[in-house]
Amino acid sequence: MSAAVDPFSPARLGPLELRNRVIKAATFEGMTPGGVPGERLIDFHRTIAEGGIGMTTIAYCTTEADGRISEDMMYLHAGIEPELRRLIDAVQAAGARVSGQLTHCGNFSKNRELQRLKRPLGPSRRLNMLGTPAGLPFAGAMTLADIDHLVETYREAAALMKRVGFDAAEIHFGHGYGLSQFISPKTNRRKDDYGGSFTNRMRLPLRVLEAVREAVGSDFPILGKISMSDGVKGGVTWEEGVEVARTLDQAGLDAIVTSGGTSSFNPMLMFRGPSIMQGMIEVEKNPIARLGMKLVGPRLFRDYPYEELYFLERAQRVREAVDCAVVYIGGCSTRASLDRVFAAGFDFVQLGRPLLKDPAFVDGARVDPDYDSGCTHCNRCVGLIEHPEGIRCPLNDAPALEASHATA
Ligand SMILES: Cc1cc2nc3c(=O)[nH]c(=O)nc-3n(C[C@H](O)[C@H](O)[C@H](O)COP(=O)(O)O)c2cc1C
Repeated sequence: MSAAVDPFSPARLGPLELRNRVIKAATFEGMTPGGVPGERLIDFHRTIAEGGIGMTTIAYCTTEADGRISEDMMYLHAGIEPELRRLIDAVQAAGARVSGQLTHCGNFSKNRELQRLKRPLGPSRRLNMLGTPAGLPFAGAMTLADIDHLVETYREAAALMKRVGFDAAEIHFGHGYGLSQFISPKTNRRKDDYGGSFTNRMRLPLRVLEAVREAVGSDFPILGKISMSDGVKGGVTWEEGVEVARTLDQAGLDAIVTSGGTSSFNPMLMFRGPSIMQGMIEVEKNPIARLGMKLVGPRLFRDYPYEELYFLERAQRVREAVDCAVVYIGGCSTRASLDRVFAAGFDFVQLGRPLLKDPAFVDGARVDPDYDSGCTHCNRCVGLIEHPEGIRCPLNDAPALEASHATA
């Protein structure tokens, strides 16, 4: 293997130069009340950009109003272009690039403000557990016209992203959201050209990638975030996850982000550490939803003890299978881990929770080989997605207790 690259030196992501190889992962911020990106979201990303990262990812940029999981998610449309420009300007002025995570919820939604649809749609009919307390207990199956429409929403959203000044787009192919529902045999029971064989299950994701590429052109990087495994019986296996990556690479992605798990069936595969359930119950206002979490929680939120770089070995299989850049994600919270990621041959790394704890992680790790973000992977940040003020690291609420974290 060739010598490890320096994570702190400028690097090219397809046609785009980043000042270094550390990217803020998509973490839905919960800071778009009414779907509008406001001051709080700008401050959040500006602060992270000022801490030295190469690029941030604005999360949950849904491709249409009905692609939102809840009413307070942003969907890409002309009405918010001025706010998006301000957000992008603020991050770029701090020296970082800006990506946006292009997403559609498919059948996984509790959004009561559906505009075009009567109920959420996915590849096949199924119960929509998330939506049940909101009066949306069922998800329908998309018709071929719905599929064509969905592709066009990605095309238009991607065109808007380029128009307002995003530097890159990250298509979400994982975690049990819309495109992932088509890839996964667990949720895709279709009998037509979009279901059954691997080729058929990849047909819609590939059409979406093609439409996004047509919209943004070849001078604009497209990343794709995948679930290397759904972590559920009957879903995408680790072996098939490598094939998903290979197929998307061959179709022209610039970079693959190697995540795992699904929000609907096995979220802890992606997070590891203490269950996210308690935090979610604390902020959930709907008593029926709270009861549901208590009942199904122990089965859904399985126990995966945290370990640093928990996806490293699995992601290396993807690294070996593809030619495009590979972005490691999952449990990289110290400088030592950063070094291991790049020694293992990855091109970039994405950090989620560690940057919530310590937005200045990059600047700290650059000068201190023993640097530790102080993230304990307590996962309490995850429940705060539903908090009226959005996500934050609760450890930072009590600075006195945290004094010992930084340079061990
Ligand atoms: C508060 C929070 C919100 C998240 N929201 C998203 C999201 O919108 N899209 C996504 O792909 N992943 C999301 N994730 C998962 C992260 O991108 C990442 O895959 C996971 O946290 C593991 O990386 P880490 O160990 O660096 O935190 C979220 C994670 C957290 C902690």
